[in-house]
Amino acid sequence: MKNSSKVNLGLIFILSTFLMAFGLPQDQKKGSPWEIPEKYMKMGNPYKDDAGLTKVGKMLFSKHCKSCHGSKGLGDGTKAAQLDTFPGDFTIDAFQKNSDGDLFYKSFIGRDEMPNFEKKITDDEDKWAIINYVRTL
Ligand code: HEC
Repeated sequence: MKNSSKVNLGLIFILSTFLMAFGLPQDQKKGSPWEIPEKYMKMGNPYKDDAGLTKVGKMLFSKHCKSCHGSKGLGDGTKAAQLDTFPGDFTIDAFQKNSDGDLFYKSFIGRDEMPNFEKKITDDEDKWAIINYVRTL
């Protein structure tokens, strides 16, 4: 009896240490400010007024971005908890103040945990469709 409760305590200790180290959600760090190359900073959105593209953008966002960024762009997708860096909240003013070129660079060139999409999304119209959709969040 005595021995087995010691074993149980030991197991609980090991399990809780393990959970603290790997299992429970940890505080995500916020990404540092991005350095956007000049070429992108100056980039204009050739599809700016193409409202029809937003629908396409929504589909593409669901396919490529939602898993981390969440369906509303709050940074709460199903994969988000596994990320060390918070993916960002696309609905806030500070985010929407990004220029189109900033968003283009961040979305398709990326850095660290934000994947590069140059090989997955090759069509320019598709890229701007996603940006146009992100603008509606
Ligand atoms: C594997 C998870 C993941 C996927 C998939 C993903 N992102 Fe991200 N995204 C991140 C993370 C993490 C960051 C924060 C990176 C950093 O700050 O270093 C980020 C940052 C961003 C930012 C900058 C946010 C800000 O506050 O400035 C934009 C814009 C963005 N992502 C757009 C997209 C788009 C568009 C897609 C789909 C084409 C996408 N992401 C797919 C994880 C992801």
